[in-house]
Amino acid sequence: MTLLDLCSDIPDLKRANAIIALHNERQTWVSQAKKGFRRYQKALAGLSLYQTRHVDASGDAVVIGAADEVSEAERQEIEFHLRQFMPWRKGPFSIFGVDIDAEWQSQRKWNRLAPMLPDLRGKIIADIGCNNGYYLFKMSESQPKLALGFEPVVQHYYSFKALNAMAGRDNLDIAFFGVEHLSLFPTCFDIIFMMGILYHRSSPVDCLRDAMTALRPGGILIVESQIIPGDQPVALFPEATYAKAPGTWFVPTASCLENWLLRAGFEDIIQFCRHPMSSTEQRRTNWMTFESYEDFLDPADPNLTHEGYPAPWRLYVRAHKKA
Ligand SMILES: C[S@@+](CC[C@H](N)C(=O)[O-])C[C@H]1O[C@@H](n2cnc3c(N)ncnc32)[C@H](O)[C@@H]1O
Repeated sequence: MTLLDLCSDIPDLKRANAIIALHNERQTWVSQAKKGFRRYQKALAGLSLYQTRHVDASGDAVVIGAADEVSEAERQEIEFHLRQFMPWRKGPFSIFGVDIDAEWQSQRKWNRLAPMLPDLRGKIIADIGCNNGYYLFKMSESQPKLALGFEPVVQHYYSFKALNAMAGRDNLDIAFFGVEHLSLFPTCFDIIFMMGILYHRSSPVDCLRDAMTALRPGGILIVESQIIPGDQPVALFPEATYAKAPGTWFVPTASCLENWLLRAGFEDIIQFCRHPMSSTEQRRTNWMTFESYEDFLDPADPNLTHEGYPAPWRLYVRAHKKA
């Protein structure tokens, strides 16, 4: 199933057409032969030649293609194309024997989530800010009807396109949309994943309300977020950056995030995991050579960020829309 199939199931024709029109407009924009896009477009074209049936996302690394399916020269070409998508933020992946050690050990997040997930089989899922689709591939193992990534960053959008051009998973699709487009999809999704998103929004409660709109009655929202430690329902609002990230607005405590969910109308809210961030989970690698987590902290005190704010923890929450 694809985004267009999803639109054809929307009973309100006007609304379905509005999504398709916006999708076409954004596709046209991202398909332009612009200088900054060309390196990704060429890599997508090059990697699309290597289609495989050997796809396995059940382990830590998402495996696409076996090493013995290609020659050494072909593997070098594949690696060259894959490196055009650097820096690789999410992974690991193994592509025809090329191992991609991404900045994040994303399998750790997935392993914390997995025990609390509903059965994904036959479901329509949105993964907001899906990046290169690491979690979409993990989800596809459970046979959802559709897992649709929303991703408005050109590099990440093309990296997923390239990975799935090789993998051919037909229950996965990506839209060059942001979370701000979620409200265009009323009652469309059984499950929405919103991981690593809320603290990047200047209006996190509106973002949760949009997720409420987009869920079907009885639908489930999975939120994963940066938080600060503390018992009071308050949020840190950094002056300019938080852990060197300029796009960070509100970093809540766990109880503050729960209150946001309650006031957006969610119920049966369960916080199921909380842990401090660590430089074993987010770190510089051969595929992401810029600064990483340890550079974002105060060198004299790892409990503080570079700016002197409390260092981040991560929180996982599951919440329901009323059935
Ligand atoms: C912190 S990363 C989280 C990635 C992934 N969801 C995870 O949990 O590992 C934020 C992601 O959101 C994407 N993003 C940026 N602007 C966005 C927007 N307006 N709406 C949705 N996602 C956005 C980024 O490109 C990036 O892939």
